[in-house]
Parts: sequence; C-alpha cells; structure tokens
Amino acid sequence: MSELAAPWWSKAVVYQIYPRSFADADGDGIGDLRGIINHLDHVAGLGADVIWLSPIYRSPQDDNGYDISDYQDIDPLFGTLTDFDEMLAGAHERGLRLIMDLVVNHTSDEHPWFVESRDPASAKRDWYIWRPARAGFQPGTPGAEPTNWGSFFGGSAWQFDEASGEYYLHLFSRKQPDLNWENPEVRAAVFAMMNWWVDRGVDGFRMDVINLISKTYPLADGVVAPGQPFSFEIDRVANGPRLVEFLEEMNHAVGLTDKQLFTVGEMVSCDVEHARAYTSQHHDRLGMVFTFEHVSLDQGPGGKLDVAPLHLPDLKKNLARWQKGLYGEGWNSLYFENHDQPRSVSRFGDDSVTHRVASAKALATVLHLHQGTPFVYQGQEIGMTNAGFTSLEQYADIEALGQFRQAVAAGADPDALLAGLAKMSRDNARTPMPWTPEGGFSEATPWLPLNPTTPTINVATDAADPHGVSGYYRSLIRLRHELPVVQLGSFDLLLPDDERLWVFTRTLGEEKLLVVANMTSSLASVPMAELPDIEDARLLLTNLSTGQDLQTLQPWEARVYALSS
Ligand code: NOJ
Repeated sequence: MSELAAPWWSKAVVYQIYPRSFADADGDGIGDLRGIINHLDHVAGLGADVIWLSPIYRSPQDDNGYDISDYQDIDPLFGTLTDFDEMLAGAHERGLRLIMDLVVNHTSDEHPWFVESRDPASAKRDWYIWRPARAGFQPGTPGAEPTNWGSFFGGSAWQFDEASGEYYLHLFSRKQPDLNWENPEVRAAVFAMMNWWVDRGVDGFRMDVINLISKTYPLADGVVAPGQPFSFEIDRVANGPRLVEFLEEMNHAVGLTDKQLFTVGEMVSCDVEHARAYTSQHHDRLGMVFTFEHVSLDQGPGGKLDVAPLHLPDLKKNLARWQKGLYGEGWNSLYFENHDQPRSVSRFGDDSVTHRVASAKALATVLHLHQGTPFVYQGQEIGMTNAGFTSLEQYADIEALGQFRQAVAAGADPDALLAGLAKMSRDNARTPMPWTPEGGFSEATPWLPLNPTTPTINVATDAADPHGVSGYYRSLIRLRHELPVVQLGSFDLLLPDDERLWVFTRTLGEEKLLVVANMTSSLASVPMAELPDIEDARLLLTNLSTGQDLQTLQPWEARVYALSS
C-alpha cells in the first residue's frame, strides 16, 4: 500500500469508552455522557485520534445497552441528545473523531419494530426471524424449538411466543431478537438510521457481530457436541451467502467509503481469508474487522471458561499470519482488550506488583508496533488488572451468569467455573475506571464494584509516575504518528518458535525497525546471531532503561530499534 493511498486511520489510534464504567457525573453509580465530557482531556492527552463509544442508545440494559429499543435517542441513564452533541463537539474541538457502536444484528424485544412484529398480521412480522414449532411437536414444549441451536448467552436460541404460537430467533439473550436482513425494508431502516447519525456528525461505526446479519437458509439443525445441550455450529449463522452484498449495500447507502468514515466490523468466526474479502481496498465494504482468533488461543475444548495456558508462539504466529495476509490488500485492527475480554496484563502479562507495569508496557509495545489500527480499551493505558471476583454474586454480566447456569445444569464443577470466570469473564474489564486512589468514578455506590487495586492502580497515580504506563502509551502513539514505517511497513516475525521472546521487524523502503521483547517474568538471553545487526542501530523506545546490551533482557523488557540501512 503506498502512503498516498493509505486511509487516515492508518495513522490513528482508537480509544474505547465503555460509558457505563467510565465516569459518573450525575451521582447514580453509572457512568454517563457528562462524565465522558469531563474526561475528554484524558483521552486527548494520550494522543488517541478516535473514540469508540459502546452503546448509549435507549435500552432496557439487558446486555448493558447492546439491546437497543430506540436507535435515535440516548438512554436517560447516560444523558440526552443535547449532552451527546456537546460531547461530540468537545471531542472534535480536541481533534478526536468519534465512532458509534452499531448494533443491528438484533434489537431489543422492547424496540417498537419488535413489539409490532409480535403480531402475526403486522407488516413488520417478517422484520424478525419467526418460525413455527418443529414438525410433530406441541409448540412451547421441550424439543419443539425450530432448530437445536444454543444462544451465545446460554439456553436455546429460540424463544416461544405464546400469543402467536411461534418462536423467534435470538442468538444472544431472549431480549435481543435477531433482525431479518433478508427483508429490504429492514436494511433501508437501518441505513436511514445510520445516515441520521452521520448527519449529526459522527465519524464512523464499530459494527457489533456484523457477520451474523446474513444467515444460511434454510435454518437447520446442527451437530450437538458431547455433553452439550445445544448445537453451536457458528458457520450456520456467520459469514452467510449475502454478507458481502449487505455490506456493500450499506457502504453505498451511507457513503462509508466516499465520506471516509471509520468502520470496524466485529466478526465471530472470521479468518484471514474472510478479512481479506471484507476489508479489501478494491471494494466498498469495511475498513477493518475485529477477529476473535488471537483471543481464543487460551481456550480449551470446553469453550471460554475452560482456560488453557497460552503458548506464546501461537499468539505471535497468529498475529503474524494476519499481518502477512492483509498486507497491501486489507487492513488490520490491533487489540488485546475490550469490554468483552479480560484485562491483558492479567491474561498475557504478569499482574504481580513486581511485573505489572513492565508487562503492561511490553504487551503495548508488541501490539502497537504491528501494522494496523491499535485499539486501547479504557484502563488498559494504566495497566488495570482483572477484577478479582471470587463469588457468583459479584458478577453482573448476563453472559457470565447464563454460561455458568448452563454449565452447572450440564454437570460442570461450579468451583472450576468460578475459576474460569475469574480469568475470562467480561466483568473483568467492566469495573469502573479508577480516576484517583479513592476511586473518583462516582459519588454513589458504583453499579459494579471498583477493582480492589484502585488505591494503587488509578489514573492520577499512574500519571504522576514518570515511569507510569500511560506515559509509555503516549510515546507509542507518538511513534505511530511520526513514523511511516510504523504505519505502513511490512512485517516479518523472527524466532517464531521462541517461547519467551517476541521479535519482529518492520520495513518501509530504507526504514527498518527491530522490536524485541521478553514476554516472561525471568531473564531471557537473546540469540544475537539470529537477529539483524544492531551495532549502529538507534534505540527509539524501551520500557526499562537498563542500559545493558541486548544480549540479556530483563523480565518483560521491550525495545524498539531503528536499524540503519
Ligand atoms: C458483541 C458485543 O461486544 C457484546 O458486548 C454483546 O454482548 C454482543 N455483541 C451482543 O450484542
């Protein structure tokens, strides 16, 4: 990709805000838009270019706003459209663009479209996916569901509707019915809504589970894995035959490419080949996608709560495959964290007092030196750790509770499940943003407990520390802004099978960078003979100023060199 042809986001870093947990200005224990307005300087100060806002629309909050009942209004929990306009203007004044979360695989069951659709005679019946009971079964009785599919949050993916005697599909909670994208009226309504936000001034969209909008018809039973109550063959609902057509139709109806709007599509079951097609520069589809491949490498066969040790080479090689696969063709997103993932310092780093800061910086170094658009999730920039919950009562997330219940019903050991939740649950990332040693998130009791580490791990303490994590993020973001080789250089993974070191080069014309990181909590020796010569290299950035040569790296030491060519 030539520099001229590169889109603006090839230089950009995105900061994700989960509004409910960011800052509470009105004292109800839940974050809100005014809280965001009050902290825009924090985001701008990091050097980020774009804010991605998790949903703030009107919602019954069954899935913390990913269940929307009015796409064109703000939930009173978060504020008003006037607050929104003020927040957007405040972001723009600071040079920050703002992208909205677009949740259009499903709505809330309280959305007027669905309320109307419940009536079989209504013109909106076909806006959702309604099916009669399985042939030969009494509607509403066990086994009568139209297919044997499970939902992502546990239980069947079908909900029986007494009044009409039919079932509707919900791949997530029963309060999140799936829209029927085969119906052109649905698509037109979604595109009109997107245009309304674009006209209001937003700069793009993060598209929730967007590769589920085209399903493979006819909907049919899948294989049920041993010991599981339901079938979970994701490819029956993901990457369906009309996905590319729907994405292009959306792109043209909203002018996504023409207006250079930022788009990132969250995609389950998305491999490099899919991503090449969806993000190809030769088509008007998406700017980039979020894959789940690299955040599934520490899962055993039992799924998300079956935590397996990460084998570092798997993670390095996975990212490298995406780097190679999309280079010059599509575009990568780069992320370790978001509101659905545990904290990366607890997951891939070392969250002990001794190694937390260095490992947070080492992880940031390797991620931000890859090619693509990096995403920083609120709190990641100060090295926040997992929540440390020990009992089920501490969890609020519908996914955690649903998956726990389903697994216990299927005979799983509750203690093992709790251990899995402590490592992997989404609530790990959702504890309120700790602004000060006292919390500083809210005057009231927060909706989810503060992380017990708040007295030591908080924004103010980190900012005051010359060796803090956020200052290091600022340096990484500056490097990306300043160096074309970081934005556009090709990627080569070195020492792919090394289980301790993460080493790679980036090359653009005459410019070459070497990144070397020790991804362990002990000393690591570097096989210098296998690396490019660094004799005349310039050290651009390091997370530990040990002043020693490269031969032996301290625990979690990371270095970025500019090689002379
Ligand atoms: C993905 C979102 O990131 C997650 O938080 C949500 O629960 C599901 N999609 C359903 O919308």
